[in-house]
Amino acid sequence: MQLSENQPAGIEISLWQYSMNERDRNRWVQSLSPDERDRAATYRFDRDRASFIAGRYLLRRLLSGYVATAPSKVVLVADEHGKLSLEGRDRPQFSLSNADGLVAVAVASGCERIGIDCERADTEIEEVTLDAYCSVDERRWLDELPAHERARAAVELWTLKESHLKAIGVGLRENPRNVTFSWEDSLPVAAHDGKRDRRWFHRLIESGSQHVVALAVCSRSGLPGIHTRLFQDDSMPSE
Ligand SMILES: CC(C)(COP(=O)(O)OP(=O)(O)OC[C@H]1O[C@@H](n2cnc3c(N)ncnc32)[C@H](O)[C@@H]1OP(=O)(O)O)[C@@H](O)C(=O)NCCC(=O)NCCS
Repeated sequence: MQLSENQPAGIEISLWQYSMNERDRNRWVQSLSPDERDRAATYRFDRDRASFIAGRYLLRRLLSGYVATAPSKVVLVADEHGKLSLEGRDRPQFSLSNADGLVAVAVASGCERIGIDCERADTEIEEVTLDAYCSVDERRWLDELPAHERARAAVELWTLKESHLKAIGVGLRENPRNVTFSWEDSLPVAAHDGKRDRRWFHRLIESGSQHVVALAVCSRSGLPGIHTRLFQDDSMPSE
């Protein structure tokens, strides 16, 4: 199916709990570019290699619908900070994240910037790390939460910050403390360098109990509709 670049604004989030089956992975790797295969070979840990291959496989599968070509023919380019785009096109906007068993990809038409991040919900964040990435107000908010909510809330806060920094394309080159969150009607609201920009929207995406997924969107025309789906790999095993 070819998807038009001019279709109405919308955000498609695909979440994939990929298998660790080597046969599946050997099939996915066939969709990757020679550069991606070289990079996959450099990972020291099998888990990290699997995560990278699954991420690029899903990304290529999704983008191939926009450029009407086979996943292996999609040409991805990375800028000097590592942010990917489709060669020669600034649309659709997309973002990719991996976290130990889960790949999350957001693809958007009709918005200026998008960033997605996922982390394991049980990630343990040390106090010294919290001090490094939280503002005083964020720290106070975390400290006032019931003990059983605090650890997950700290991961959510981190994931929201990283999604924003990925959307603007700098990643962790910028101090996550420069992006601060407060809550309005239970929704996260960001300020960057102390300023709120009303073109930005942030959401935590329902993704089950094991992972936290956060989305950052910059859109002049309001937050486009968000559609989340669980990706199922329907490609045929090779004999
Ligand atoms: C971008 C960054 C925040 C991703 O963090 P992460 O939690 O390790 O990885 P995620 O799975 O969430 O995201 C990985 C994807 O982010 C994307 N990405 C990489 N750099 C990016 C950037 N500057 N902006 C937006 N997206 C970026 C890529 O698509 C990458 O996918 P790939 O691994 O298949 O290439 C982090 O790698 C970063 O800040 N890199 C730049 C600075 C740096 O290298 N610092 C060293 C560590 S402090």
